[in-house]
Amino acid sequence: MTIWNLGSINADFVYRVPRIPAPGETLASTGRQTFLGGKGANMSVAAARAAARVVHVGAVGEDGRWAVERLLEYGVDIRHVAILQDQATAQAIIAVDDAGENSIILYPAANRAIPEDRIGAALAEAATGDWLLMQNETNGQEAAARMARDMGLRVAYAAAPFDAKATARLLPLIDLLVLNEVEAAQLREATGKGPADLGVTDVLVTLGPDGVEWIGAEGTRRFPAVPVEAVDTTGAGDTFTGYVLAGLDRGMPMAQAVGQATLAAAIMVTRHGTADVIPDLADLQSFRGADGQAGVS
Ligand code: RIB
Repeated sequence: MTIWNLGSINADFVYRVPRIPAPGETLASTGRQTFLGGKGANMSVAAARAAARVVHVGAVGEDGRWAVERLLEYGVDIRHVAILQDQATAQAIIAVDDAGENSIILYPAANRAIPEDRIGAALAEAATGDWLLMQNETNGQEAAARMARDMGLRVAYAAAPFDAKATARLLPLIDLLVLNEVEAAQLREATGKGPADLGVTDVLVTLGPDGVEWIGAEGTRRFPAVPVEAVDTTGAGDTFTGYVLAGLDRGMPMAQAVGQATLAAAIMVTRHGTADVIPDLADLQSFRGADGQAGVS
């Protein structure tokens, strides 16, 4: 089957800093690197590296042709990425501190100007049983989810960057919700409902070093994280989601998809960078080889 990812594409400017600057503080960075990023692009690359067929639906400006070419090099179908003449490519200014934590400023630009007719034209090519994947860095999510549902697609939503209202609006339209524990608490505060009462078939709550909780038809199940030395957590959640979707798309049971995704996310936090450094299945295999039983299989 195919994963149709309505997703952001960003130029990530990553600054290494000794600590995340406080309000009013000026801090010199110790290095800067540029990566392909955006939660959407990261998820597309992760799913492609996990051997899924991925079609990215999104937009960049003329200055973003390099990003589209890079997605293509990474095995993502880019026929439905629009190059907009009147928009700039989105940017993320990312500060990563010595503990591997980050702080991100987004300039959404083309990500929020994806022509809705282009989204419709892309999804018109989808088939029953395919997945629509979305995050909250683009426009057009609700219309896309409705169209996907009508066409018999399964719909997955990673609720980041978190917006309680946007998430609540999508809840009746999705089959899989992925969010972290802070977002889960914010959603509970906004809706009065915990993950089991949201009306979504499967909810995955990522807990960082404490693993992942899966709330599904058979109750709640906890999966442990794979212990590693984290140097940069940026993009680890996106890697997790892309790998889960790829696993489910390839017919894996949820436990196996989550196990593989947990391992991919663990490897990701040992690397600096975003889409360009997302591990592939061979990396997972070598890690398993080096570490015996790592991950759930
Ligand atoms: O989740 C990490 C991503 O968030 C980065 O690649 C950045 O572009 C922002 O979208």
